[in-house]
Amino acid sequence: TLTQAEKATVVTIWAKVATQADAIGAESLERLFSSYPQTKTYFPHFDLSQGSAQLRGHGSKVMNAIGEAVKHIDDIRGALAKLSELHAYILRVDPVNFKLLSHCILCSVAARYPSDFTPEVHAAWDKFLSSVSSVLTEKYR
Ligand code: HEM
Repeated sequence: TLTQAEKATVVTIWAKVATQADAIGAESLERLFSSYPQTKTYFPHFDLSQGSAQLRGHGSKVMNAIGEAVKHIDDIRGALAKLSELHAYILRVDPVNFKLLSHCILCSVAARYPSDFTPEVHAAWDKFLSSVSSVLTEKYR
């Protein structure tokens, strides 16, 4: 679980990320699909070419969900309950993929805000994304 200080750090960096959430979401998916092409198998119905409308639309949805988790940082499980069921029971996304996407989101934020991305911010943001991933994969058990 995140400490109070880590939560505060996440809220602060999110305030910046939120202003460019759509672009960061799309970039994260582009990084995911180009570095880990096996992840594309979950999106056979999508046009995954760079900058496609579907990629941007989906990136926006993912970042919205992350924004909800930030807003409800003391109850991420409650905030993402529906999404957790969707990924486990309907989409059946293998949990390993959440680590890959989290890494890509981390890289996109780091690339966009290099001077804000101190080791402290890195660690807090990584831990936060890991909590989000745990919530989204816990229904598998
Ligand atoms: C759908 C969020 C990880 C595959 C969605 C939706 C959201 C979302 C908000 C849309 C739900 C709706 O339309 O009601 C997230 C978040 C993630 C995550 C916050 C982790 C940080 C993943 C991963 C994969 C994945 C790792 C697979 C590599 C999908 C697929 C859909 C989906 C296939 C359905 C797309 C469609 O047909 O529109 N996700 N997701 N998600 N997600 Fe995730």
